[in-house]
Amino acid sequence: MRILGIETSCDETAVAILEDRNVLVNLVHSQLLHQQYGGVVPEFASREHMRIIETLTKAALNQSHITINEIDGVAVTRGPGLMGALLVGLSFAKGLTYASNKPLIGVNHVEGHIMANFLDHPDLKYPFLCLLASGGHSQIVYVKDFHNYQIFGRSIDDAAGEAFDKAARILNLGYPGGPLIDRMAENGNPGFYPFPRAKIKNGVNDFSFSGLKTSILYLVKKEGADWTQRHLHDICASYQEAIVDVLVTNTITVARHENINRLVLAGGVAANSRLRTAFQSEAARYGMEIYFPSMEYCTDNAAMIARAGIELFIRKQFSESNISAIPNLSLISDN
Ligand code: KG4
Ligand code: ZN
Repeated sequence: MRILGIETSCDETAVAILEDRNVLVNLVHSQLLHQQYGGVVPEFASREHMRIIETLTKAALNQSHITINEIDGVAVTRGPGLMGALLVGLSFAKGLTYASNKPLIGVNHVEGHIMANFLDHPDLKYPFLCLLASGGHSQIVYVKDFHNYQIFGRSIDDAAGEAFDKAARILNLGYPGGPLIDRMAENGNPGFYPFPRAKIKNGVNDFSFSGLKTSILYLVKKEGADWTQRHLHDICASYQEAIVDVLVTNTITVARHENINRLVLAGGVAANSRLRTAFQSEAARYGMEIYFPSMEYCTDNAAMIARAGIELFIRKQFSESNISAIPNLSLISDN
């Protein structure tokens, strides 16, 4: 079985081909043009997807020495994401499947992030508790089986990745902020400044990151540019620690409460080095197994979309040729 995956939900144009459960090719074109604006400009993202998608698909087929006729199905992200960006990938996939008479498989991007773990860990067993933390989402998901989810906590405001990106903008570091803060924090002191850890009154396992963002904004304003520059590494390490602390604490709390012994990380923030080591040591402390995807499968990619597509293909859950993109598609409602 060969599945071609297409991902265009945000600012990465990505195409991948999986043969059974093995990745033959995984191409990602990161749209660097957004860096100068300090965030993703939706209109430019759509245009860039349009400019590159066909070339990238041809390159994926060429590199894996496969023709479109040797593909069994095309899996494509239908949501959540930016409407215009999603439409580029979905329309392209529709054209491709129509012309080649192959099934179209619409995939939930968030489900793709979870399934990314099976690319590196084919023997991963259900059930597990997944912390999904990306630029658009922060959720603690109990994954009972494929397509069978229960949400135990979510962000009530900003996503964890957004908290990294917004702080990086305040600190004039650039975009995307997560990897930049991660690198800066490497030789910083995480105990330098006590950034707040939000406690949500109405749901112990929910997250809130907007107070943290306000806190760094006030700190930088109060102390001034010179001080901030002098203590950049320490500020980044302390800020990162506050995010990691909340993510780890809430996830471990749910796992212990629900008696779940297998933890899984997913999404762009799962690439964070401090998050990975903190989870490793907490999992060891409580005798839990911990899994996370390799770096290339944490951030947006099409191999994860093709991997989710394989599960849908096996179950013959194909999409109609007139499906629409759903910018706010949720993990549960689509079951
Ligand atoms: O999963 P992803 O590529 O796209 C979404 O679906 O949102 O996640 C992107 C997010 C960005 O906010 C980026 O800053 C964050 O993941 N990110 C990181 C790291 N690498 C990417 N955050 C913290 N540390 C990293 N090393
Ligand atoms: Zn994503």
